[in-house]
Amino acid sequence: MKTKITKKTLLKFLIILLTIALLSVLILFLVVIGRTFTFKVNTELEEWENTTTIYPVLSPEQRKELLANFKEAIQIPTVSFSETQQNMSALHEFNLLLRRVFPKVFSSTLVQHEAISNYSHLFTVSGSDPYLEPYMLLAHIDVVPADEADGWDAPPFSAKEINGFVYGRGTIDDKQCLMGILQALEYLLERGYTPRRSFYIGLGHDEEVHGLHGAVNIVNLLKSRGVKLQYVLDEGLTIMDGIVDGLNGPAALIGVSEKGQATVKLSVSGAPGHSSMPPKQSSIGILASAVRSLEKNRMPNLFGHGPERATFEQLAHKFGMPHRMVMANLWLFSSLLSGILEGQPDTNAFVRTTTAVTIFNSGVKINVMPAYAEAFVNFRIHSAQTVQEVLKLIESTISDKRVMVELVKGFNPLPISSYDEHTFGYQIIKKTVQDVFPEVTVTPSICVGNTDSRHYTELSPDIYRFAPSWYKPGDSARFHGVNERIGIQNYEEIVLFYFQLIQNCDIRNVPSPRT
Ligand SMILES: *[C@@H]1O[C@H](CO)[C@@H](O)[C@H](O)[C@H]1NC(C)=O
Ligand SMILES: *[C@@H]1O[C@H](CO)[C@@H](O)[C@H](O)[C@H]1NC(C)=O
Ligand SMILES: *[C@@H]1O[C@H](CO)[C@@H](O)[C@H](O)[C@H]1NC(C)=O
Ligand SMILES: [Zn+2]
Repeated sequence: MKTKITKKTLLKFLIILLTIALLSVLILFLVVIGRTFTFKVNTELEEWENTTTIYPVLSPEQRKELLANFKEAIQIPTVSFSETQQNMSALHEFNLLLRRVFPKVFSSTLVQHEAISNYSHLFTVSGSDPYLEPYMLLAHIDVVPADEADGWDAPPFSAKEINGFVYGRGTIDDKQCLMGILQALEYLLERGYTPRRSFYIGLGHDEEVHGLHGAVNIVNLLKSRGVKLQYVLDEGLTIMDGIVDGLNGPAALIGVSEKGQATVKLSVSGAPGHSSMPPKQSSIGILASAVRSLEKNRMPNLFGHGPERATFEQLAHKFGMPHRMVMANLWLFSSLLSGILEGQPDTNAFVRTTTAVTIFNSGVKINVMPAYAEAFVNFRIHSAQTVQEVLKLIESTISDKRVMVELVKGFNPLPISSYDEHTFGYQIIKKTVQDVFPEVTVTPSICVGNTDSRHYTELSPDIYRFAPSWYKPGDSARFHGVNERIGIQNYEEIVLFYFQLIQNCDIRNVPSPRT
């Protein structure tokens, strides 16, 4: 009798439990589906004040002229070979080119020009309203070396045109920004433009070798004058088209931070000996297992601890299925997405501190056990970690007292600039992208490389890394690589982008968010 009741109750209980479980699954399902079709991060703003006084059009003569100026800039081999070795004659020639092709910029009473460390440049453009906080545009003059023998379709300093593209070192890093900014200012001044908001233009000549003479001295000069900047815009991320799997249409990624770096030296010192009586473990063997454990035990996946989550959420409504369901429901699928991202080297770089073993040295003679072995490992640090945290993880991963771990050099990830609806710099850049490229979606992201702008943190909390160069499949290999090129139409768009950006910055305040 007693058992019977218990069984019945148990059955009832089970049915209730099952119903609850089914209902939960149903609700979960409905929430996921609902969010998939309605989720959109609300970033709409009220009406913008129209500060465009000079309509952004280029005449046929201007289009010819800006292309010729750009090609001349590419043809000067302003190469940085190392921190102490740059092509000085090319830098000198570049100085002369700027003065020749941008006569208005160098003669206007609105623009003050200063040479910094001989080859870098600071332009101060005075606005009519001294109460508006100035902003600053950056670009760099130098390029990395290029060798035609690596397989270029055109010599790397020829600026040769092939199928609507200009080929050459510097076409996407970073002479398109440098020439684009000055060309836009030249045309604005030619047409009688007077800015309301003051701004600076900073052109460094040694960005590729850390900017220690260019950017650093420009920053020191501005600091000595007590300058504070509303925002800084430098090179960095671009417009991605057909690169992100499942994304419909192009996306402009605005870099709101940069990864940090740590270069670490691992070394093992043992006793030398003859190879006829080797010890159980050689210095090479000990070092090799240390390197192996670093590669095997990657740094933790930190997806969601930096701005990379916002990157996908703001793009969610532009993804097709099934990606869209995942992006719109990161509350549920965050670990699924981070798992997918770590599968590819380029997206893996967004979710963790990356580990790259770049140098491994030991041994001099085939019959001598080397006493010493060393390796260098380059870490690119995720925005949620510091150099110190990375060093601690390296030591605990290797966990071998015989391996010495030394920091050669490093710096922490850059602070994260704001990207909400109230942020002047971010919203101006976004609006300008939408003015010039209505079909492009804008989203914040992280720059995995480093730029001159990292020297500017004391002048402004809001630093952005973006240029509207179009990146299509295969283009990332051109960056510092073979066949670097830019579409002629894309270069014109870049000139128009800065033309529009400078005028958009004359707005006094960002409109309030639309509710
Ligand atoms: C902004 O003003 C300019 C000149 O006053 C005008 O040509 C242009 O059409 C205006 N733009 C918009 C979007 O209203
Ligand atoms: C340096 O630049 C000059 C042009 O100013 C060029 O003729 C020369 O070949 C360059 N030197 C090297 C080593 O690239
Ligand atoms: C600038 O040029 C002058 C003369 O050409 C030279 O003496 C000086 O060392 C240069 N300064 C820098 C920082 O390169
Ligand atoms: Zn660059």
